[in-house]
Amino acid sequence: MTIFNLGSINADLFYHLPHLPAPGETLASTEFRRGLGGKGANMSVAAARAAGHVVHIGAVGTDGRWAVERLLEYGVDTRHIAELGDTTGHAIILIDAAGENQIVLYPGANVALGQGQVTAALAGATPSDSLMFQNETNLQSFAAGLGQQKGMRVVYAAAPFDAEAVHGVIDRIDLLVLNQVEAAQLEAALGRGLGDLGISDIVVTLGAEGCRHLECQSGSDRHYPGIKVAAVDTTGAGDTFTGYLVAGLDRGMPMEQAIGRAQRAGALMVTRQGTADVIPDLRDLEDFRP
Ligand code: RIB
Ligand code: NA
Repeated sequence: MTIFNLGSINADLFYHLPHLPAPGETLASTEFRRGLGGKGANMSVAAARAAGHVVHIGAVGTDGRWAVERLLEYGVDTRHIAELGDTTGHAIILIDAAGENQIVLYPGANVALGQGQVTAALAGATPSDSLMFQNETNLQSFAAGLGQQKGMRVVYAAAPFDAEAVHGVIDRIDLLVLNQVEAAQLEAALGRGLGDLGISDIVVTLGAEGCRHLECQSGSDRHYPGIKVAAVDTTGAGDTFTGYLVAGLDRGMPMEQAIGRAQRAGALMVTRQGTADVIPDLRDLEDFRP
């Protein structure tokens, strides 16, 4: 009933451009904004917006107190966020006129976490709690081992793709969430198909085409069609989907219902500019008429 999320916290620096730059090209940005982001923070905020009880495990630098305050304001428990070093992770996000993006990431404090911090955060965790993580921090493998030992639902969002992290966690997870590109990369890195990983549930997001849910035990592979929206900014839509999905399952929703709601949240997010600061809540979803 508590979702522990080991995850990145970034300052997202958004630059809107007429098109994504080619090598050697200099482009003037037509609009600039700064916001809270990081795949981890986005997932925490999404899960909290979906009425989940979320404990974020992560780190910022001395320049990142605003980010912790904002997470707190958005309903996330921030007691296990450390201040490590000077530099908070940040992402330079280029967005073109069609809402497509390109992201340059500087991890900073996100990859300076210590094992003691994770152990302390999970000290009281029980089998009814969930543990989630992505690839923008260190210690995925350590956390996955601890989560498995405690009998928690272990959820891995394999983004952005990281072969080393994959090898360290793949045998310890209950739910894997990834996009099509990450799925192909993961299969290549492991030399096995998704269906042969022995993971109970795998959800592959397909962008505008919706998603697939693979169930290991029954062998079922179900397609959920996408929700049509006019894309403004796809950044953070996948993270929103994952946070909502985990919060739904954590609250005992059947997979089908949790996926359906997560899809609506992801679709609405695509129509909004920005990341953690604009993740929809349950009220927004009720009003959403795609
Ligand atoms: O998935 C979107 C996120 O990726 C952004 O918030 C950015 O911080 C990068 O981590
Ligand atoms: Na967005």
